[in-house]
Amino acid sequence: MPDLPQDRTYWNTTAAAPEFPQLSGEIDVDIAVIGGGIVGITTARLLKDRGLTTAVVEARKVGRQVTGKSTAKMTSQHSIIYQTLEQKFGEARAKLYAEAQETGIRKIRSLAAEHGIACDIESKPAYLYTLDENYVGQIEKEAEVARRLGLPACLTREIGLPFQVHAALRFDDQAQFHPTKYVVGLAATIPGGGCHVFEHSRVVDWEPTRVATDHGTIRARHVVMATHLPLGQVGGYYAQAYPYAEPVIAARIVQPLAGMYINAEQPSHSIRTHARAKGDVYAIVAGTGFKPGHTDEERQYFADIESWLADNFDTGPVEYRWVNEDYTAMDGAPFIGWSSSGTDGYLVGTGFNAWGISNGTVAAMILADLAAGKENRWLDLFDATRVKPIAGGAEFVKENVHVASHLVTGYLSRKPKSFAELAPGEAAILKINGEHVAAFKDERGQVHAVSAVCSHMGCIVGWNEADRTWDCPCHGSRFELNGEVIHGPATKPLGTHITG
Ligand code: FES
Repeated sequence: MPDLPQDRTYWNTTAAAPEFPQLSGEIDVDIAVIGGGIVGITTARLLKDRGLTTAVVEARKVGRQVTGKSTAKMTSQHSIIYQTLEQKFGEARAKLYAEAQETGIRKIRSLAAEHGIACDIESKPAYLYTLDENYVGQIEKEAEVARRLGLPACLTREIGLPFQVHAALRFDDQAQFHPTKYVVGLAATIPGGGCHVFEHSRVVDWEPTRVATDHGTIRARHVVMATHLPLGQVGGYYAQAYPYAEPVIAARIVQPLAGMYINAEQPSHSIRTHARAKGDVYAIVAGTGFKPGHTDEERQYFADIESWLADNFDTGPVEYRWVNEDYTAMDGAPFIGWSSSGTDGYLVGTGFNAWGISNGTVAAMILADLAAGKENRWLDLFDATRVKPIAGGAEFVKENVHVASHLVTGYLSRKPKSFAELAPGEAAILKINGEHVAAFKDERGQVHAVSAVCSHMGCIVGWNEADRTWDCPCHGSRFELNGEVIHGPATKPLGTHITG
């Protein structure tokens, strides 16, 4: 087996990786949880707090897939969202979103404090600013709506960044933290008393009361799918939420920043800092979203954030580059709850629109309530069975047209015709004997080749240069160079291709 690329995310390389066992044999618990990110681990912890037994099955390592790739802002300030939610869902439901996010932030703080999890929580204000006077009106409107919904929002032009802004919205009492340390630390509190966390346990078969891996089975009253997007075709969410990727970089910065920041306009620049050790502070910067697997756009937006960071801040060279990925639900609100009407489906949470730390914790709180047979009033907004495009339809249709084109053509940024034409370090989709082949030639000249046809629904995958993975533009599945699934909705690896 050729060497696989090392994990390139800042968070994962700066957190311990305790081992959890692999599932083997048959066990019975109250609730089974698929997925060991912030949603699955928090849900399991909250279920244990309610006296229920639970088992988490993570296909790879806890906390290191989607959660470990985020920017990890603990904030209810989600760019321009409250005026949009109010317009689409009305004031009462927009207020539910605001209340849920603020409660989610407090829940992270309280769980970390209760269990003594050292996850570098730092209180900071969150700023949304603009350098474009055309956005001033939207920021002023967002401030007015946010205040009315009860959020700690105010307008300012003093934000502590080394450039003048036309307007900014500040949310107080927000925070930033280390996501991998938090999730791994929380996971360590779960085993015992009939509760379990399993790693390297990929689910290969599932029913609403049973999950199976290659080596074991869990029977439960209910199954929580905390897998970024529900597996396979559960709930049809692959057709109701579209994936996008964001470039993220980390570099040493001379001074910590006074807050967490994101601008309103494009290209997008999100920045926060993390004190790795005394006097050793890193800036974490995320950029403009693009369709997963679109290598040219990925390069463009990495170059943009690297030059933006260098032009505006006193930093060292970029040491980490990775691609974050999330889903946007068709109407802008996450899907959380039962996947079908009644309580005989799956419990799901997806479509966090890149704000997965607070939304993920909100999802866990709702899912734990539902799994325990309790009601949760936030469901009035997040209900995962709302299936019709209530609003935001035009954008969603555009995305789906884009998706449909990939069912046929895939995405080719360069056109080498054979393995021999690949340069060391280069990847491409090749057409060999009528088959699409995803091929990467490593620095030693070894070719890693698998089928380019996504095992979910047959789109052609594209190259993620930063992480050296194959990412599907249609519904966001990600695969290792050897075709192994990193995360779904696909559950089967890419097909094999014999190099020649
Ligand atoms: Fe659905 Fe690839 S993730 S076709």
